[in-house]
Amino acid sequence: MKIRRAVIPVAGKGTRFLPATKQTPKEMIPIINLPMIHYVVEEAILSGIEQVIFITSSGKHAIEDYFDRNFELEDFLIKNGKIKELELIQKIGKMVEVTSIRQKEQLGLGHAVLMAKDLVGNEPFAVILGDEIVRGPHPVTKQLIEVAKKNNGANVIGVMEIDPMETYKYGVVKGEFNPGSKKTMRMSTMVEKPKPADAPSNLATPGRYVFRPEIFDALKVIPKGVGGEYQLTDAINLLARESEVYAHIFDGERFDTGNIEGYLNATIEFALMDKDSEAMMRRLIKEKVEKYKIK
Ligand code: UTP
Repeated sequence: MKIRRAVIPVAGKGTRFLPATKQTPKEMIPIINLPMIHYVVEEAILSGIEQVIFITSSGKHAIEDYFDRNFELEDFLIKNGKIKELELIQKIGKMVEVTSIRQKEQLGLGHAVLMAKDLVGNEPFAVILGDEIVRGPHPVTKQLIEVAKKNNGANVIGVMEIDPMETYKYGVVKGEFNPGSKKTMRMSTMVEKPKPADAPSNLATPGRYVFRPEIFDALKVIPKGVGGEYQLTDAINLLARESEVYAHIFDGERFDTGNIEGYLNATIEFALMDKDSEAMMRRLIKEKVEKYKIK
């Protein structure tokens, strides 16, 4: 079983980041000097993905341009002897094969994934949300692909333990752990954004999936769900009734960069983890702690 394609939906309006997202795609907002989407595409590549399919909407062309070559800029960098910068730019332009398809109306994540049906064809594929970054020793999509392989090519959803009071923000799963496993469970249902009292567990998905192509049949028949949108969760539930869906607790730390707090958190943490910016960030934090008397 080989997973060659990853679908990355980026068609959302990014209202939590307005007014920046009035003109700039949310996924192009940088964390230090790399746009969010760079980290996500890097995860896909490190997971063995050969083709990325962006689901876009109007005003998102900057994402496609970012992964394309820019000969004018390359020429400028050559003429000015900026070889390090040139190599960096060229590397990004050659990272991966990129295709995109428009979601003309933003009718929900389920609807966005359905747009990729013809490009994906009759093959298993990954779905990776463009505004969630997971960091750890092993790329999370790769972890899910390995679980899918171990379970006869089944569908797999990446889940993480969350604060039980925050279930209303996520798709939350219910299931039974595989015999002898504390990480992989056979999922029976998934509930979209339940109130804490109604949540079947504290295991939630931050937007990492491996699907068999049957998910498209489910996406075609689901009605509008929570929030009046076509929910991927509803299609997953339909799939779980007819075939095997596993939820796997992945290793790694997830950063929800689609909201301001998560974005600030990622910026500080990534700077502290990066050898080029660690000393700078430590100094800045120290200065601010003293200046604002933070305890
Ligand atoms: P979000 O719920 O985060 O929506 O979508 P959003 O529009 O990006 O951001 P806010 O909530 O308005 O601030 C989760 C993911 O699904 C994609 C988004 O681009 C994001 O990556 N999505 C959502 C689509 O591609 N199409 C849709 O119709 C809805």
